[in-house]
Amino acid sequence: MMIRLIYASRAVNLGPADVKDILASSRRNNQKLAVTGALSLSNGIFLQCLEGERSAVNAVYHHILRDKRHTKPEVLSLEEITQRQFTSWNMGLIASTTENTVLFLKYSPTAEFDPYGMSAPALKEFFTEVMSSARWLS
Ligand SMILES: Cc1cc2nc3c(=O)[nH]c(=O)nc-3n(C[C@H](O)[C@H](O)[C@H](O)COP(=O)(O)O)c2cc1C
Repeated sequence: MMIRLIYASRAVNLGPADVKDILASSRRNNQKLAVTGALSLSNGIFLQCLEGERSAVNAVYHHILRDKRHTKPEVLSLEEITQRQFTSWNMGLIASTTENTVLFLKYSPTAEFDPYGMSAPALKEFFTEVMSSARWLS
């Protein structure tokens, strides 16, 4: 049984190498657990989608929560799924607001990208569109 968990958190104490470091360990660890997903960092806010087996997603999420590089985590959406969206990404990085302005704004009720204020359906649509049209960094 698979789930998709979407959460937001605020970046803190983030050094220049941190995002690279987060992606590297995500890809290494998530692959072992067959967890896939995508991560965006925009406007100082992380937005991450994690999908995979329920206990695996829970394990990864609880591990991430202990990370001191972010704070104020909030689960925004949690649902059972029958198929993955990010089949080819153990963790894809979505390019920031400057590169994806139109896409971010399309799903954001405010001028600044604010996932905390987005509804679950809007988040779902956002990630669906991200899959097909967003600029990816790696
Ligand atoms: C916003 C954010 C998202 C993260 N996402 C993941 C993830 O999907 N998978 C993962 O293993 N680690 C993720 N991390 C990193 C973990 O918190 C932790 O630093 C890392 O897994 C340690 O890996 P290691 O024990 O292999 O060195 C994330 C960290 C942050 C701040």
